[in-house]
Amino acid sequence: MKIMEIEGGKDLSGTIRISGAKNATVALIPAAILSDEEATICNIPEITDTEALCDILSYLNVDVKRASESIIINPSNMKNIEIKEEFSKKLRASYYFMGALLGKYKKAVMYFPGGCSIGARPIDLHLKGFEALGAIVKNEKNKYIVEADELHGANIYLDIASVGATINIMLAAVKAKGITVIDNAAKEPEIVNVATFLNNMGAKITGAGTSTIKIEGVDYLHKCFHEVIPDRIEAGTYIIIGALCGNPLKIDNVIPEHIDALLSKLEEMGVDLEVGADYVITSKNKNYISTNIKTAVYPGFPTDLQQPFTVLQTQCNGKSKTTETIFENRFMHVPYLKELGADVEIKNQTATILGPSTLKGSQVVATDLRAGASMVAAGLKAEGTTTITNAEHILRGYEQIIEKLTNVGAKINIKEI
Ligand code: UD1
Repeated sequence: MKIMEIEGGKDLSGTIRISGAKNATVALIPAAILSDEEATICNIPEITDTEALCDILSYLNVDVKRASESIIINPSNMKNIEIKEEFSKKLRASYYFMGALLGKYKKAVMYFPGGCSIGARPIDLHLKGFEALGAIVKNEKNKYIVEADELHGANIYLDIASVGATINIMLAAVKAKGITVIDNAAKEPEIVNVATFLNNMGAKITGAGTSTIKIEGVDYLHKCFHEVIPDRIEAGTYIIIGALCGNPLKIDNVIPEHIDALLSKLEEMGVDLEVGADYVITSKNKNYISTNIKTAVYPGFPTDLQQPFTVLQTQCNGKSKTTETIFENRFMHVPYLKELGADVEIKNQTATILGPSTLKGSQVVATDLRAGASMVAAGLKAEGTTTITNAEHILRGYEQIIEKLTNVGAKINIKEI
């Protein structure tokens, strides 16, 4: 287990550069196996989720070369074998191998994916999409066998605009015969990034980033070069940290349009913001106005920033509310926020936060990735020492977090115990 230790209450100044997006990377790596040639992807973040996917590629006998922030994936000698449970359960995004293997070989055998325990997180919409394309899905306990004689285009309506289902169906449909239309598709920027990657290989996908995506199946996907977009959730997390501790803090390599919902909420709160073409500068302030948020699919307020945002709400004057609408179990950080001195009550899916609170260092737990990020934000604000156990969750999504924060003046370290 990893333990992070933060000596909080320090002002942070300087620049933090944002890495490639985790949620795009974790789809792009499995998507690369669809190519009939080599794919080069740059701006890949060095996070443990990337390592876990590269382990799956190697296990499938895919040639993987890493050079600084780039990855070259060559599936020429690939073997389509059952992906063992120990691989599948390491991360949520292992499920993208289901769509990619089905799309390429018309057969995928793997286990239910792992990932953060923030709700039930079923994959029924992914499987219904595969079935609509002509696949037969067999499920034995945790194991899924998805197989088709032939994949054909279909009209698929998603009951929920799911990020995972949208991408997975795109992966399965890219080489199917005929045209597939996904309606009520999710619109997240990471989906556009994956569609662009597939189109760079020769796929014919239009409409990514809107609620209707059209995929015209092709036979061959060729060599390509692609770049991962900046991580909007990492950017949002550090902007929130800037609003808590910045003096001032510049967050660089950001696409501000991707975090519009966050930026407008910060403005409403009275956060000092300078938004440039590809950067945001923030500073801490003592007079924040209480603000309510409700998570929603993109372009709404991202559920992945909800937990870090509640830390900022503890510093607002008066009562703020946060309502979680995407996942049933995304307030696991709240008991630990209270441990640090916050005044928070949860009723149903809404947390009511009464501020401002003086946060004091304590022992807390990173119950999942973004809960862990919220503990880092709170620990940086709190006076004294905060110890975060299970800190390995944080490393799944934040590249070089210790180095990035140390460079701007934080006292933070991580050790294995
Ligand atoms: C992705 C992101 C995650 C983010 C989430 C919402 C990745 C690897 N993870 O997760 O960081 O928090 O989007 O922005 O990109 N659902 C079903 N059946 C399905 C699929 C989803 O009921 O087959 C439900 C989920 O339980 C959830 C909602 O739909 O309540 C949205 O989930 P989804 O958008 O699929 O999230 P993930 O792809 O798991």
